[in-house]
Amino acid sequence: MKYPRKLSAGANNTVIAISEAEVGKLYTGDTRSEIGSEAEKMKFANRINNLVVKFIRLDYDEKIQAEVLVMERLMPIDFRAYEVEIRALWFDVFEDELKQLHRAGFVHRDLQRPESIGGLPFDNILLTQKGLRLIDVGISALKQQVGDKIFEKYVEIENQEMKNFKDYFLNR
Ligand SMILES: Nc1ncnc2c1ncn2[C@@H]1O[C@H](COP(=O)(O)OP(=O)(O)O)[C@@H](O)[C@H]1O
Ligand SMILES: [Mg+2]
Repeated sequence: MKYPRKLSAGANNTVIAISEAEVGKLYTGDTRSEIGSEAEKMKFANRINNLVVKFIRLDYDEKIQAEVLVMERLMPIDFRAYEVEIRALWFDVFEDELKQLHRAGFVHRDLQRPESIGGLPFDNILLTQKGLRLIDVGISALKQQVGDKIFEKYVEIENQEMKNFKDYFLNR
């Protein structure tokens, strides 16, 4: 289906521009994720710090017959335009904030795209004028839901992905 004002189609969902400040992630019949759960996880992370994109509201669009997760619109910039020293500062803040989310019981789980899927390797990490931000909490996990053992495993994987991202972000 063709949507007006489409920004991008990720692995699962189409995202459309709503205004200069808002975008909407569309959930249609064939979407494999659940909007309520994604909204709750986003709100959880938003209470801890500023790293995950801000949740705004849930809506239903009659015209395109889709559930819509409305969130803050990020305007990504290209890291290759900035000196490595500046990127290193951005990365340090990112690492601190991600670790803070882990300590609070939130793990993102989708920093790095599996090679088998293809596309950009870190497309859920967006660089903005105010630093690095995370989108797409579709498969994120909360410790209170998955329990300590699974959560620790997820954090271990995420720490490795964070290292891979550092290498990519500082050396390209
Ligand atoms: N808040 C946002 N601001 C700007 N662009 C966004 C935003 N959220 C998503 N996008 C764009 O839409 C794409 C798909 O969104 P994403 O949440 O990653 O869905 P998927 O689960 O399909 O990967 C992203 O890769 C990005 O290009
Ligand atoms: Mg994505």
